[in-house]
Amino acid sequence: MNVVESIRSRKSIRGYKDDPVPAAVLEELLTIASQAPSSRNFQPWKADVIAGEVLERIKEENVAQLSAGVWPHVEVLAEDPQKEAREPLFRQRQIAVAKQLFGAMRIARGDAWGRQEWMFKGFRFYDAPAVIILSAPDALSGPVMAFNVALFVQSLCLAAMDFQLGTCIAQQGVSYPEVIRRHTGIPESERIIIGISIGYPDPAFAANDVRTEREPLHAFARWHGFGEGSERRPR
Ligand SMILES: Cc1cc2nc3c(=O)[nH]c(=O)nc-3n(C[C@H](O)[C@H](O)[C@H](O)COP(=O)(O)O)c2cc1C
Repeated sequence: MNVVESIRSRKSIRGYKDDPVPAAVLEELLTIASQAPSSRNFQPWKADVIAGEVLERIKEENVAQLSAGVWPHVEVLAEDPQKEAREPLFRQRQIAVAKQLFGAMRIARGDAWGRQEWMFKGFRFYDAPAVIILSAPDALSGPVMAFNVALFVQSLCLAAMDFQLGTCIAQQGVSYPEVIRRHTGIPESERIIIGISIGYPDPAFAANDVRTEREPLHAFARWHGFGEGSERRPR
């Protein structure tokens, strides 16, 4: 698959077959993703690859925390709910994705139990057979580490497709960093940034068919020095 095809066809996968992902495949993927650019070639990423019993424990404890009402608290990509709420456009887009997913999964608006189950599934990394946790040394400032690690993450998600693997970037799964630390030993000197759920897509899982929308070019691209006129206007 060429890179443009991968970028165009990548989508989040939230339902996986039980088949394990061979460690050799994960090793190859991580090696490929480490070709990602990073500022000053810092390569700040650390990848903890988790499967089997360890992953089961993490999933159970994530759900236990959530059920006990412990507020999710990511270490780096924390959002400010007040600020988000003031941005109706972002809220709108978030609602659009949720509608698509709930629609595909036939979870009705008033189905509180179904919605909760879906949320639990997110905190269980959508039951992927393997998960990769990305962290980086605290020695770098938050935006620098996050930006660099993001390039690694996108590279990995695209490369995974060449191995018939699906991925879902997983913020929910790392919302209780102390749980991840307890089972992986990620040191306090590193910040846990994000997780990636990875596995072979289950073709029967309806949410895997969801294609999220994108704004058209003219909604986000601003042009300078191209002259005015029809030659650069979107059709
Ligand atoms: C930083 C980041 C965190 C994300 N965290 C989650 C998550 O916790 N749960 C989830 O279901 N999807 C998560 N996603 C996936 C996004 O919802 C998804 O990429 C977006 O809706 C666009 O859909 P697509 O990936 O299918 O193109 C995350 C994506 C990013 C980039």
